[in-house]
Parts: sequence; C-alpha cells; structure tokens
Amino acid sequence: MTGKTSLQRQLSLGLTLGLTLLWLVAVTASGLVMQRELDKALDSALEETAQRILPLAVVEILNQDSATSPQRIASLQPHDEYLTYLIRDETGAILLRSHDADQTVFGEQPRTGFVTTPTHRIYGAAAVSNTVHIEIAEPLAHRHTAMLQAVMELLLPLALLIPVSLAGVWWLVRRSLRNIVAYRDAIESRGAGDLSPVPTAALPTEIEPIAAAVNQLLEKLRRALDAERSFTANSAHELRTPLATALAQLQRLQREIPAGPLQDKTVQIEASLHGLSRLSEKLMQLAKAEGAGLVSATAQDMVPTLVFVVGEFRRATKVPLLLSVPDGRPVLSCMDQDAFAILVRNLIDNALKHGAAGKPVEISLATDGTLRVINAGAIVPADTLAQLRGRFVRSNTDASGTGLGLAIADTIASGAGAQLTLQSPATGRADGFEAIVNIIAS
Ligand SMILES: Nc1ncnc2c1ncn2[C@@H]1O[C@H](COP(=O)(O)OP(=O)(O)OP(=O)(O)O)[C@@H](O)[C@H]1O
Ligand SMILES: [Mg+2]
Repeated sequence: MTGKTSLQRQLSLGLTLGLTLLWLVAVTASGLVMQRELDKALDSALEETAQRILPLAVVEILNQDSATSPQRIASLQPHDEYLTYLIRDETGAILLRSHDADQTVFGEQPRTGFVTTPTHRIYGAAAVSNTVHIEIAEPLAHRHTAMLQAVMELLLPLALLIPVSLAGVWWLVRRSLRNIVAYRDAIESRGAGDLSPVPTAALPTEIEPIAAAVNQLLEKLRRALDAERSFTANSAHELRTPLATALAQLQRLQREIPAGPLQDKTVQIEASLHGLSRLSEKLMQLAKAEGAGLVSATAQDMVPTLVFVVGEFRRATKVPLLLSVPDGRPVLSCMDQDAFAILVRNLIDNALKHGAAGKPVEISLATDGTLRVINAGAIVPADTLAQLRGRFVRSNTDASGTGLGLAIADTIASGAGAQLTLQSPATGRADGFEAIVNIIAS
C-alpha cells in the first residue's frame, strides 16, 4: 500500500492511542496491586474475627448441656450475614453455628488455615487440643464486586481522556503545522512561471533547510531560464537587422541581373532569407511566451484584441474568417493582451496554412472564455496530434514553417494557467482541426 498519509492525522491518532494504552497498562498494574492488598486486609479481618469468636464459643459450648442438639445462634435483629461461621468438634459434628451458616459451604471435615472454594474464602482455627474448630466464611462475590468497582472508577477517566487528548493533540499538531501548511499553499498557488523565492521565515527549524534548498533550486532554475530566454530573444533581435539588410541587397541585385539561372538562384536565396526572418520572429515570440508577465493583475476584455487580430488576417487573405464573439458582452481574462494576440495569431496562421485551401476558418470566443479556432482539412492522426506541441515538430505538410507555432501557443496557455487542447476531427465534423483554449482559466 502506498496511500498518502496525513502527518496531523497520524500524530493525533498515534499519540491518543499511545496515551490510552499506557493508561490501560497503568490501570491493570494498579488493579493487580489493589487486589493483593485488598485480599491481605480482608484475610486479616477474617482471621481476627475467627480468633475473637473462638474463645467465646468455647466458653458457650462448655457451659451448655452436652445432650442438647447443635445450637444455632439466634440473631438479635433479622439481617443477612456477610460472614458465617461453624463451630465443630474434631469429628465434624456441629456444636454451634451462625444463623445463616450453610454447611455445604464448609465441607465435611473442619480444616485450619485459609482455604478458597469456588464461592467462598474460609478461615479455620482450632482450640482445646484440637477438639473445637471454628471456620468462618466470606463470600468471594463481595471481593469481586469491590475490585470491579475500583477498576471501573480507574477506567472512568478514560472516557473523558480519549476525546480530550484527541482534540488537544489535534489542535497542537495543527498549530505546529500551521506554517508548513502556509508554505505548501504558497508553493501550490504560484503559477508555473513564478520562480521567485518562497518566504521561509516562519518555518520550524526542521523544515527550514528544505525550504532554503528549494529556494536555492528555484533561483538556479530562474537564472538558467533567464539566460536561455535572453539569449534567444537577443539573438533573434540581433538577427533582424542583418537579415533585413541582406534581403534589401538581394532585391537590389535581382533588379540588376537578367532573367536566367542566376535570377532563379536569387529567388531561392530570398525564400531562405524569408524563412530565417520568420524563424527569428517565432523565436522572439517563444522568448516572450516563456517569460514572466503572461498574467496581468486585472482582468481585461479580450474581445477587442481578437477582433483586431482577425481584422489583420482578413486584410492579408482572401479565405473567409468567420468570427463569433459574445454580443456586446466582454470576455474578461487576466491573460496578458500581447500574449493573447500572439496565441491567436499562431492558431489562425496554422488554420490558414494547414487547413483545406480556400475553406473558411471559424474563430469563436464564448462568454465562458473558450476560444476555438476550427478549419477544414484532412484528419490528423491521434498519435501525431499528441506530439504537435513540441518545438520544431511538424507533421506531413507542404506549407513552409518552423514548427514553433503550436509550441508558442501551448507555452502561453500553460504559463497563464490555461490549457491548449487539439482535436482532429473538429467537434461535430467528420474532418478538420480544432484548437481550444479556455482563457478564463488563468
Ligand atoms: N490548423 C491545423 N490544421 C492542420 N494541421 C495543423 C494545424 N495546426 C498545426 N497543424 C500541424 O501541426 C504542425 C505544427 O504546427 P506549428 O504551428 O507548431 O508549426 P508550423 O505551423 O508548421 O510552423 P510555424 O512555426 O511557422 O507555425 C504543423 O506543421 C501542421 O502539420
Ligand atoms: Mg504554425
């Protein structure tokens, strides 16, 4: 079993169970000691009573007429006897008995010393050269009841102790773990892009080194990512100017040289330079997508941005772009506007580039924040679909591209706490491709 355990639950139950067990052991030990002492005290009382009655009984017997039958001591007032006794001669004939005495309890022959029968504790003593025997009996039930009562009274506090200790330990553990829970929440609530140090001041000394190590790790990670990001952004930026210059010079060259094989070569070079320029543009977008600041502090309406981006595409293409947005109602989201624009551009660019030629592209933003970009086209197999978000991953396509578009869209979505879902065929269709992002999730 690898079930997750709660420290609070484990400590509370463990400590309460331990306390209860210790209490039970203490009650058992004190019960045993008490029983021994009680037996000693009652035995001594039994012996003392016998020794007191015996001389009186001897005098009584010697004074009585020998012909009379065994004498039963009449009680002064009617009552139940707690101790009963028999006075017998050496043959076992009864000479005197207490009024409740039952002979079956004492046995046929008189015995001396202590004897325990299943029901009674009996003490026997003899006098007048072993011719007069006294036996006095005390019911064991009485001793058992006394013991039971004492043990019950010792157990009684447990009924209160268990809930009180459970509540107390629960409270104490909860209080002690308070700062650790706050630390956990602080880590849990931060977005994937937030690598700033987590405050560790209030943590207990046992946990603080772990938190410090986590912060060190976060810092290292942040520096490594910053370095990677700034390298990507800088190199892409630095490439822009030389690329633009090279393109301009190439175009001037094209005008100067006559048509022919040389001219064809310049066209190829121009296409390569355009590809490089697109790559540097995508790398800049990727650097932005990986940076912080994908989430803004206040929610803004995303509809105008979407309308603007779609307007840009409409001016550049003849393919119909069917836009559907909520009527006059804003769709508020904390996603950064620029990041949202980059995300939408990449999705629409893909739909135009990889969708069936000339078929309309549907773009919709629902009030619940669901953005959908749908195009017609051949079905993309599920296993290919699962890999398209990877960087520089492209499936079979004739269209030019870098394979970074979906990676950028996915990075923006997850950086803002949303999720990019790809579907093929598109929902409710037999073919096509659909990209879905819920921008309110951020
Ligand atoms: N709307 C779509 N319809 C069909 N296939 C698509 C669609 N969008 C993406 N794909 C497939 O996913 C692959 C990866 O897309 P991605 O946007 O990452 O790269 P790209 O479009 O090829 O290049 P670029 O970096 O210029 O965007 C594409 O090559 C294409 O095969
Ligand atoms: Mg693309």
